[in-house]
Amino acid sequence: MDDLKTIETELAAKIDAAANLEALETVRVETLGKKGRVTELMKTLGSLAPDERKARGAALNVMKDAVAAKLDARKATLERSALDARLSAETVDVTLPVRPIAEGRIHPISQTIDELVTIFGEMGFSVAEGPDIESDDYNFTRLNIPPEHPARQSHDTFYLVGENGQQYGNVLRTHTSPVQVRTMLAQKPPIRIVAPGRTYRSDSDATHSPNFHQIEGLVVDTTSTMGHLKGCLVEFVRAYFEIPDLRYRFRPSYFPFTEPSAEMDIACTRGGGELKLGVGDDWLEILGCGMVNPKVLAMCGIDPEKYQGFAFGMGIERVAMLKYGIPDLRTFYEADLRWLKHYGFLGIDVPTLTGGLAR
Ligand code: PHE
Repeated sequence: MDDLKTIETELAAKIDAAANLEALETVRVETLGKKGRVTELMKTLGSLAPDERKARGAALNVMKDAVAAKLDARKATLERSALDARLSAETVDVTLPVRPIAEGRIHPISQTIDELVTIFGEMGFSVAEGPDIESDDYNFTRLNIPPEHPARQSHDTFYLVGENGQQYGNVLRTHTSPVQVRTMLAQKPPIRIVAPGRTYRSDSDATHSPNFHQIEGLVVDTTSTMGHLKGCLVEFVRAYFEIPDLRYRFRPSYFPFTEPSAEMDIACTRGGGELKLGVGDDWLEILGCGMVNPKVLAMCGIDPEKYQGFAFGMGIERVAMLKYGIPDLRTFYEADLRWLKHYGFLGIDVPTLTGGLAR
């Protein structure tokens, strides 16, 4: 049976020489496969005399088992080194600096919107949105500003006109109030939404930009009163400016879509080139508000005999400038990286009421 020993040594050498799993599989097929070397030897047993066959068969089986064990062992070794190679190729250096977070900045407008939504979200408001291009109907008429109403002049509206001067009845929204209309037309009370977004007026100087941002608030149910409006907004300004005893006042005002209407001021002290918020005898106007005019409810498909509510709107740039001491409105839109590095926020400065709203 020396021939079997020689074959076994030969096969063992081939198995050891297999450099990877595919090569090893080829050796296995050549050895134990249907037409493999060992399989072919097994087939020769049938032609032998019975006692010869027994001895030869036993020896062949021993050799077959030895070769199979060698194949298994080599396979395990190759699998292990394949895994090792993969693990070392896929290493990640977790100590590398996180450059995108350290370099990039969140624009103060985005950060302020996140802060406002966080505060109102905590009070149970959800976020609603509307398009920048609005119909005249939603921007004005259904907010109780019919054509020829004097309030239209004060809005410095951008009207969309075609090449031949033809009017489409669309405008760039002059405030976020049309989102009130959209929400009431689409939703049944109780309604409690805030709507932050871009707004447009044809006006440009140190304190006005043709494109700016507002946030609108709307609550409609059967029981909301001016007291709720006041409580909600006082809670809001104190949370936003992070001044728990901030002084404020409500002044009577006029908006066609609210009745009665008011403006909210917060106290401030000016002096020595510094502006201190929350205390003192000067006042800063920060928002407009009021009880939703019953005519508006009716024009938006809500029964004014059954429902009532309040609304408010404020300029996002204005409250951002006040909180973060940004002196010039125009700098918001200049895309100056030095400015953004100074006034911008880090990606990890996610505003929360418990963790602090910013910085
Ligand atoms: N839309 C008003 C403005 O742009 C603000 C406002 C909103 C006032 C809601 C009252 C209620 O000036």
